Amino acid sequence: MPEKKIDSSHYYNIAQFRVESWNDLKNESTKLYSSPRGSEDEKLYKKNLQKLLKDIEGVECYFAFPGLSCLESLREMLDRHEHTALSNKIAEITKNLVSDRYRSNPDFLEDNDPTVETSDKGDRAEVSRKTYFEVMFVEDVSHAEDNKLRHDLRDLRLSNEQFAYGIVVQHSFEDALIALQFNYNIQAVVIRYAPPYHSKKITPVIKPFIQNILKLDFASRAPKELGPILGAVVKKFRPELDTYYVTDTALSNLKDSTLKTFRRIFYRTEDLQELHLTIIRGISERYETPFFSALKDYSKKPTGIFHAMPISRGNSVFKSRWIIDFGNFYGRNMFLAETSSTTGGLDSLLQPTGSLKKAQQKASEAYGSRNTYFVTNGTSTANKIVVQALVKPGDVILIDRDCHKSHHYGLVLAGAYPVYLDSYPIEDYSMYGAVPLEQIKEKLLKLKEAGRLNLVKMLLLTNCTFDGLVYNVEKVMQEVLAIKPDMIFLWDEAWFAFAGFTYNYKQRTGMFAAQKLFEKYQSHSYRKKYKTHIKGLKANESPTLPDPDKVRIRVYSTQSTHKTLSSFRQGSMIHIWDQDFRKKSENTFMEAYMTHTSTSPNYQMLASLDVGRRQVQFEGYELVEKSIELAMVLRAKIHDHPKLKKYFDVLTIGDFIPEQHRKSGIKEYYNSKEGWNRMETAWEQDEFVLDPTKITLHIGKTGVDGDTFKNRYLMDKFNIQINKTSRNTVLFMTNIGTTRGSVTYLTNALLKIADELDQEFKTLSQKESNNRMESIKSLTEDFPPLPDFSYFHHSFQAVPGVPGGNIREAFFLAYNEENYEYMPLLDCLPAMEDNRTLVASSFIIPYPPGFPVLVPGQVVSKEIIRFLTALDVSEIHGYRADLGLRIFKDNVLNRQKTVSSMGSMGNNSKKKNTKLKN
Ligand SMILES: Cc1ncc(COP(=O)(O)O)c(C=O)c1O
Repeated sequence: MPEKKIDSSHYYNIAQFRVESWNDLKNESTKLYSSPRGSEDEKLYKKNLQKLLKDIEGVECYFAFPGLSCLESLREMLDRHEHTALSNKIAEITKNLVSDRYRSNPDFLEDNDPTVETSDKGDRAEVSRKTYFEVMFVEDVSHAEDNKLRHDLRDLRLSNEQFAYGIVVQHSFEDALIALQFNYNIQAVVIRYAPPYHSKKITPVIKPFIQNILKLDFASRAPKELGPILGAVVKKFRPELDTYYVTDTALSNLKDSTLKTFRRIFYRTEDLQELHLTIIRGISERYETPFFSALKDYSKKPTGIFHAMPISRGNSVFKSRWIIDFGNFYGRNMFLAETSSTTGGLDSLLQPTGSLKKAQQKASEAYGSRNTYFVTNGTSTANKIVVQALVKPGDVILIDRDCHKSHHYGLVLAGAYPVYLDSYPIEDYSMYGAVPLEQIKEKLLKLKEAGRLNLVKMLLLTNCTFDGLVYNVEKVMQEVLAIKPDMIFLWDEAWFAFAGFTYNYKQRTGMFAAQKLFEKYQSHSYRKKYKTHIKGLKANESPTLPDPDKVRIRVYSTQSTHKTLSSFRQGSMIHIWDQDFRKKSENTFMEAYMTHTSTSPNYQMLASLDVGRRQVQFEGYELVEKSIELAMVLRAKIHDHPKLKKYFDVLTIGDFIPEQHRKSGIKEYYNSKEGWNRMETAWEQDEFVLDPTKITLHIGKTGVDGDTFKNRYLMDKFNIQINKTSRNTVLFMTNIGTTRGSVTYLTNALLKIADELDQEFKTLSQKESNNRMESIKSLTEDFPPLPDFSYFHHSFQAVPGVPGGNIREAFFLAYNEENYEYMPLLDCLPAMEDNRTLVASSFIIPYPPGFPVLVPGQVVSKEIIRFLTALDVSEIHGYRADLGLRIFKDNVLNRQKTVSSMGSMGNNSKKKNTKLKN
């Protein structure tokens, strides 16, 4: 092997480096054992192995498996020329590491630990059934003390415990954070006394991956403060972990903040037994799934069913000759757990007091909300619940026009006036981006000028968008609250439930930003900053910081748990961080929840939400990080492979986000020359960032459009499912279920498609070839317009000339068929040329992407007609090609304005009602 220079920037993360290094060790040790004794080859391989072992040691010191003592024994084998044994041992470790098998066989860890006596190794069958995790101890102890701690804790293990844990000891503050970042197995942290700040073992190999840790600066703090500070930092980055502090400081001298940071504080005099039991208890509590457990218990009880639901316990299924295959397919348990009972440990979703209440409280803790509600009909319903709960007829809502259709329907139900915001268009790829903050502020100021700011209730945005655009949530809320301090925010996080479990992403979620802003505005330092800010304003300049005496933090997030985490289809959650919830919104929220929630919610779905919460609390960080890693690997592979490059381009940050919204200047996650850009900088600074797990592939060079590519190439040939395309792109997503195998399969499929296209191009006739070139030109050079929201027709405007329209009135006017007519698309442009104003009487929603290009009451623009004419999707909700666009008749539009049901038509409310057929 030519000496391999370790250039860390070519690895996306340390996990990649680690796996590759072990594979290199394996290959080199195999070559060593097959090379003749005393040969030049032997010398070379030996040297390579020594170097690899040295490099990997700087990483392995943060992991319990295989552990430093094991590396030491490998080195000794090398020195003793035991080449066969060395090669076998390295192969075994690599296999266990790469396959993660060591975690389901904790016993293997001990086999690898030369410090453990064989007689200590206990009952293997018993140990291997246990769930494995690691506990990190942070203390500057000697090697001997380190070993003693391991042995003492091992002795305390009970054979009937459900969990088994290994121990990682870190000797400094910095090392503790590095271990936490690298080592996904750590579930509990025990900080003992006052660890020193600086690490003594940072190597050049790991440096590029730990920049954020090196940026922290607590080195100058008093040593005795470092324990509590480390606890607070761990809690900020990984709040789901249990943290413990062992100290000599008397209770009276411990700060309140220290008491609050740790789950429990121990004193030196307390024995290890207590610590061990507390660690196990912490894990057991997180493991507990109140509703799933209650459902399992229920399913085991014999019961007689004398109410509805014949399927319950499988009675109507397993006794039937005709549908028993259905029962066999799903299995007995599914039916044993199928019930409508709200007793026997099961609870009522509509008024939970027991297991469901507990399950929701646990979810609230895990997702960082103040209240969490389970929703059994997807985020489509969650959105309608929140909108109905918080806005009433006549209220004004600022809403991204491109948001999911459920919001628009929610507005019709609630009777609120939408002020539509336009996402910036990404014309080259027929997509929309996100709404710039400047536009939101502009609209708010317009409403303020018109005296309608008091009616504005809510800002509603999608974060992240289907295509992966993510807002700077904190900045948006801060600057909006500076104009409207009581604004309520609804962040549609249908695609972002996973984001709470890794730090970069978490900072851009509704719940995290809400908590952060709440704490900030309560602080003295903020008050001081605000005063200085106000003093420094020039005449006519508006504040960009909210007034701490007026600001209220009221944030709602809706998440399709089922889209990105483990839950059955339709399992969603509403997370609430609203300081006025109890006082102002709980009652209306419950009314809205009752309006939309079935009285027969699906118990399997609720159980899956409960279990999904357990999963993210234990392995959310690991799984999300791995899904990002796989996305990055896929991006790099397509980018670098000559055959794939020929037909496909992975769209980069720069393709999605215009320069003015990227302060960091970062325009791609990866390029072949420089390797990886660290995503942290962009995620810290930029107005918009791109979620790397959403991989948009530009396929224009294939000459095949997105929909055909999805169906004919990916689905029919390779059974690869995706759910979004545009004219010239297809979107792949990695998630917590994505495996290396599935990424390889996709790469393979793309390679085969590229081969096939090569072949096909060679066989085309001249005419076919011309056609294909035209398609390629059209997909890569001709871009159909992407229309903005036009405007509401004046008879539906809340106040003439001021943003905001009465969508509900328009919607219900069209309930009478005499109020509308159909116009074929081809006739629309000539009618407009003839000065006719066309006004939509229904939603027109192409699917995908699933947001309306027309809403009831909206004036149809020429761009919209051109867009609809060029659309190549087969589903356009609200539109029938055989009939045409459903528009209002002129006499409906020329009526005088009606008073809306709540008299909320502003200045026009005193005008006479016109008789209308509604
Ligand atoms: C942004 C957004 N919000 C809400 C929804 C609806 O979510 P669900 O499918 O859970 O009802 C979707 C569905 O795709 C969506 O993309």
